Amino acid sequence: MMQPQREPLRTKRKNEHLRLALGFADGPGYTGFEDVLLVPEAVPDLAFSAIDLSTRFCGLELPFPILINALTGGTAETARVNARLAHVAKETGLPMAVGSQKAALEEPNLEYTFTIVRRINPKGIILANLSAASTPDEARQAIEMLEAQGLQLHLNAAQELTMPEGDRVFFWSDKIAAITQRVSVPVIAKEVGSGITGKTAQRLLALGVRGLDLGGKGGTNFIAIEEARRGRKSATFLDWGLPTAWSLLDVIAACPEAEVCASGGLRTGLDMAKALALGARLCGVAVPLLKAVVQDGVKAGVALVERWKEELCCALALAGAKNLGELRRVPVVLKGDTWHFAVQRRLTDYLEQRAR
Ligand SMILES: Cc1cc2nc3c(=O)[nH]c(=O)nc-3n(C[C@H](O)[C@H](O)[C@H](O)COP(=O)(O)O)c2cc1C
Repeated sequence: MMQPQREPLRTKRKNEHLRLALGFADGPGYTGFEDVLLVPEAVPDLAFSAIDLSTRFCGLELPFPILINALTGGTAETARVNARLAHVAKETGLPMAVGSQKAALEEPNLEYTFTIVRRINPKGIILANLSAASTPDEARQAIEMLEAQGLQLHLNAAQELTMPEGDRVFFWSDKIAAITQRVSVPVIAKEVGSGITGKTAQRLLALGVRGLDLGGKGGTNFIAIEEARRGRKSATFLDWGLPTAWSLLDVIAACPEAEVCASGGLRTGLDMAKALALGARLCGVAVPLLKAVVQDGVKAGVALVERWKEELCCALALAGAKNLGELRRVPVVLKGDTWHFAVQRRLTDYLEQRAR
């Protein structure tokens, strides 16, 4: 009798990640944007219809400051999800990152689970994605596979340590430097839920990284997902990391010119407006779009993106900003633990300068 074939470990993991992410709420813990207030302008002197949301990130001209962030690929099930996300990207004009392409580098017959995104959206902006532990050759292959305009290198030490089969060696700096020297597109270093500090941002920029995707705490929690895969409910490190707004403050104060994508728990156009006011140039969102397209289809994904664009315009109008440059000069007030964080990290000088 033929033995039923065992599902390879990576296939099983990818499908489990998707299914678990669909059932999880954000957190625990918050993003910190609840503590960020944009000072209102009662007399905005602008026309809503003339508000310009365009931005520039890593040399890419983008009509809207929203990125469909890295989610998946590598299995038949995830190819269907990637196809839906690609349709949303095409219809809304958003850039899109794919999930880690490692599976396709090891098994070329899985390339289609990623290239489907380029086939659906031939003119779109697509970011390749690999671990920071990759080689320059792997990076080049991942970029070529998608004709990608940028490469995200994910930093996920907390996730790896939570997975029994995860990596335990994290000498990433030399690998990142080697990749940035040998690929022809901008490289973006991307955390996946623990945030990046200002000091690490400086190191990453010195290694040749062009953009930083903060991947802060308060949104999707990979540690919770990995613990659930092991059948465990509580975990010591569930609350590990910097909330997204704190990471943003830390990075922008240390590197005011850095090209930052804020991500991790951004859920409304107002969250995004706060991140952009604090200095981010782009806002990445992952699981809300995953939930929308898997549970309700492409139309629901498009509707969600259109709602965010509308909310962003409302926030700009109410703050008296006609574009993202003006939004960056809107006064911001911090309260609660986010203010305490800013004081302890000595970020208040930067905040005062910014308000002038
Ligand atoms: C199922 C799933 C798979 C993911 N796969 C990747 C990945 O391969 N590479 C990566 O950089 N980030 C990956 N992420 C992380 C997301 O890009 C994002 O950083 C994280 O979900 C936080 O954003 P959110 O709170 O908007 O969901 C994944 C997230 C989920 C839920």
